[in-house]
Amino acid sequence: MNIIITGASKGIGLAIAKTFAKQGTKHCIGICARNKNELRRAEGELKEISSIHDYYCAPCDVAHENEVNEFVSAFEDKFGPVDVLVNNAGFGIFKPVLEITKEEFESVLAVNLRGVFLFTRAVLPAMRKQKSGTVITISSLAAKNGFSGGTAYCASKFAVRGLMQCLFLEVRSDDIRFVTICPGSVDTDFFVSSNALPSQSLKSKKALKAEDVAECVNLAVQLRQNADLSELDIRPTNPKG
Ligand SMILES: NC(=O)c1ccc[n+]([C@@H]2O[C@H](COP(=O)([O-])OP(=O)(O)OC[C@H]3O[C@@H](n4cnc5c(N)ncnc54)[C@H](OP(=O)(O)O)[C@@H]3O)[C@@H](O)[C@H]2O)c1
Repeated sequence: MNIIITGASKGIGLAIAKTFAKQGTKHCIGICARNKNELRRAEGELKEISSIHDYYCAPCDVAHENEVNEFVSAFEDKFGPVDVLVNNAGFGIFKPVLEITKEEFESVLAVNLRGVFLFTRAVLPAMRKQKSGTVITISSLAAKNGFSGGTAYCASKFAVRGLMQCLFLEVRSDDIRFVTICPGSVDTDFFVSSNALPSQSLKSKKALKAEDVAECVNLAVQLRQNADLSELDIRPTNPKG
């Protein structure tokens, strides 16, 4: 399969890439992120897992249309149409509404919402032509429940669910699947990079592991092409226990 995973230099994205890298069937796996060094390190880890796959690792900011189009064109030129796109890149800024700046608010929407729109739009023409494909977006349980300090993040994650529902209805007649995964707290660098409020983080062995979310992605992909998981919630079984 030809697979692209955005934001895959670490955390959930890298766990997803590793899940595919561990499989015995040959894949062409494309990963992007902004930081070149972290991307190179991730590429090394994937190659150590298996050398049977082809890897395409290149920096790309999902919020920038030209970078997204260049990444997808380069991948398609090398390997052909994308079979699976995982829109995973994302971050949050958690601040009370009177403290978050307009620029901060818009930067969250640019990555978590516009990035998904841009990447999906870039892979869709080839998927439509081949009449198959799976687009998976990592949203969040914050797409279903608002919380104090979450204006930008929750707005972006609620919105991306809407985007995915519309896309599904628009192209399901072309046999393309759309899947939205809504995880609860996952133990990654997310809360550090996002400067989250302490109450929002769940850094404990009770939190989900990135691999748990990766398993959901794999499940959605492995289902027979006529079955679309559409939307999946995953949360820690006992967050406070
Ligand atoms: N961790 C959680 O509790 C949790 C819960 C629910 C949903 N999620 C969602 O899961 C996704 C992954 O989060 P994570 O926990 O794995 O976070 P993470 O450990 O901080 O990893 C985020 C990844 O996205 C990349 N990235 C960030 N901004 C980007 C951009 N503009 N363009 C391209 N790549 C970008 C980062 O690399 P660079 O910084 O180098 O670009 C990194 O590879 C996000 O969409 C997040 O909202 C996380």
